[in-house]
Amino acid sequence: MKKLIAGNWKMNGSLAANEALLAELAAGLQAGAPCEIAVCVPAPYLAQVQALKKTHAGLAQVDIGAQDVSAQASGAYTGEVSAAMLKDLNCRYAVVGHSERRQYHAETDALVADKARAALAAGITPIVCVGETLAEREAGRTVEVVKRQLAAVIHANGHCISEIVVAYEPVWAIGTGKTATPEEAQAVHAVLRAQLKAATDQSARIKLLYGGSMNAANAATLLAQPDIDGGLIGGASLKAPDFLKIIAAAHV
Ligand code: PGA
Repeated sequence: MKKLIAGNWKMNGSLAANEALLAELAAGLQAGAPCEIAVCVPAPYLAQVQALKKTHAGLAQVDIGAQDVSAQASGAYTGEVSAAMLKDLNCRYAVVGHSERRQYHAETDALVADKARAALAAGITPIVCVGETLAEREAGRTVEVVKRQLAAVIHANGHCISEIVVAYEPVWAIGTGKTATPEEAQAVHAVLRAQLKAATDQSARIKLLYGGSMNAANAATLLAQPDIDGGLIGGASLKAPDFLKIIAAAHV
C-alpha cells in the first residue's frame, strides 16, 4: 500500500501565498513522488487549488482535501459546507474530528461519526482524527480514548468503514514540536489496526496516518513503523521544502 502524506494547512494562507507554495511544490514534484499526496486547505481556497492543478503539471498527483464537512446534506445551516459541495470542487478528502474542532467547536464523537458518514455518502474519503490529550495520556487512558473515538465512527458507518483514513494525532504533540516517539505512535497504531480488523475484513486497505509535529527530520523513522501508513502534517506542510522532504521519506 502506498503511503499518504496529507498537509493540513489549518487557517493559514492567502491567494498569493497558496500560489507560491503550490508552485514550489509542483516544481519539486515534477519527477514524481513515492506516495500519495493531499493538501487540506481552507474552504475558500478549494477552487483556487483546483484551478492551479490544471496549470501546474507537478500537482497532478496532489489530491485536494477539506478540513471539515457538515454532517447535514443541505438546507438552513448557515456557514456550513456540505459534502456535495466539496465533491463539486473535486475534493477527494475531508478531515473530520480534528482535535482543534473537538476542542474549540465542541464536536462530539457522535457528530464526528455523522460527518464521516456524510462524507462517505458523497464519495469523499474522511480522514478521521483521533487522539488523547496530555492529561488523558498521563492518566493512562490513551487506548481507551482513541478506541472510543474510533468506535463511534465504526458504529455509524458499518461496512463503509473500509473507505476511511484514520489519523492518530496525540493532542499534546500537535503544533508543540513534541512528537510521539516512533514506538509510542506505533503502539497506538497497532491498537487502532486491531480495532479496524475486528470491524471489517477489508481493514488492510485502511491507511493509518500519524500526525503531531511530524517534520522533515523525524518523518522517516515514524513512517518506517509497520502500522504507520502516512502522515497528517500541519506546520511543516506550509513550507514546500519541508513538505517535499517528508514526501520523499514516504516510500513504501
Ligand atoms: P502539526 O499539526 O504538524 O503542526 O503538529 C498536525 C495536525 O494538527 O494535523
